[in-house]
Amino acid sequence: MDKFIISGGKPLRGDVAISGSKNASLPIMCSSILADGPCSYTNVPRLQDISTMEKVLSTLGMNVIRTGEDAIDIDPAGIDAFEAPYDLVKSMRASILVLGPLLAKFGRAKVSLPGGCAIGVRPIDMHLKALAKMGAEINLSHGYVMAGVNGRLKGATIVFDNTTVGGTENILMAAALADGVTVIQGAAKEPEVVDLANALNAMGARIQGAGESTVTIEGVKSLHGVNYRIIPDRIEAGTLLVAGAITKGRVTLRGHRTDHMVAVIEKLVEMGVSIQELPDGGLVVDGTGDLQPVQVETVPYPGFPTDMQAQIMALACVAKGVSRITENIFENRFMHVPELVRMGADLQEAGNTVIVQGVSRFQGASVMATDLRASASLVIAALNANGYTEIRRIYHLDRGYEGLDKKLAKLGAQVTREKGGL
Ligand code: EPZ
Repeated sequence: MDKFIISGGKPLRGDVAISGSKNASLPIMCSSILADGPCSYTNVPRLQDISTMEKVLSTLGMNVIRTGEDAIDIDPAGIDAFEAPYDLVKSMRASILVLGPLLAKFGRAKVSLPGGCAIGVRPIDMHLKALAKMGAEINLSHGYVMAGVNGRLKGATIVFDNTTVGGTENILMAAALADGVTVIQGAAKEPEVVDLANALNAMGARIQGAGESTVTIEGVKSLHGVNYRIIPDRIEAGTLLVAGAITKGRVTLRGHRTDHMVAVIEKLVEMGVSIQELPDGGLVVDGTGDLQPVQVETVPYPGFPTDMQAQIMALACVAKGVSRITENIFENRFMHVPELVRMGADLQEAGNTVIVQGVSRFQGASVMATDLRASASLVIAALNANGYTEIRRIYHLDRGYEGLDKKLAKLGAQVTREKGGL
């Protein structure tokens, strides 16, 4: 398993291009199941999770081809299977997003239950309840979701008591081809959900209100193929802002969407980080000021995203004074805490809150990545650290960041990737 060796203390300087959004690409790739023709997507990042989704769709019989650096063509014409197998779903739980489209298009689906992951149990009860309300018969058998419907799914009013991004996405896709109108109340408002709705509408769907808490989908008989460009990755962008800040550097993001990052930018500015938008659209982060403590609560969009919690915690570790970071979305998303403590951070867990006592600087150490965003926080800490840091199991990072080591090295970081090892 690969590892990173990072020598900290180098201020990051220069421009960096933001890749396409992993969490928009995954559901949009699944939406091609609904199409009666080929779909071409651009700004699709080269990531492990995207490769896994390519495998899932190929397993269904679809023809999936990488046609360029960031482009993928998917032809759903060859679909002849309706099962997402355990060995793929276990490695990427977003595979569950084939469930809604397979049911809507073919009336059947067999999808392995995702099982838990490092950050929590992550059940799919809300997905299944909503699909059942649309007329699907759902059975759980031997670790699989067995779903079927005679004829078409029926439009229904779906009420999500708690926000679910994946649940909203599965229902958007299921409802697009359902018979009648579906209203989702309590829909997730994430930009990735809006991007999926925009891609579906470009295929001929009739979705209104995406990005609001009530979304209306008027089912249509069929959807045609599409050429669609995926939005940029707001979490990669936020991660690079934090990296620029913690190294007291000056980094300009290119190809990002500032309007998707308001909550993150607000918190960084509150901490004394200077963030300016250039006339040419670049977003400049300047970390030369003193870092102030911060209070962060992770909440659904447009609030502060849970996917940035580990990263801003690393920054708070070297701010003056006491910060409080509260995780409200997942029940076990503090796996980075003991690793940051190994690097000299002063952190105390108190339920779903971590109290951060700022220290002057991280110390280089050997640490272990445990999940995608935790590994990003270790990279951020290592960029600041005094001395060398070795981050093992960097495959976690490769799931969600496209060539992060190369992007950081281009900005002046001293980072090398070592192949192999434990
Ligand atoms: C999406 O996961 C993202 N993944 C996650 O990003 C992100 O952290 C999460 O949304 C929250 O924003 C993708 O888009 C591929 P949820 P998802 O359904 O859809 C509970 C990353 O780092 N829940 O909004 O799985 C669930 O356990 C990843 O890129 C139920 O209880 O998240 C969690 O506590 C990590 N029952 C909360 O709701 C359900 O049926 C939010 O889950 C569904 C969810």
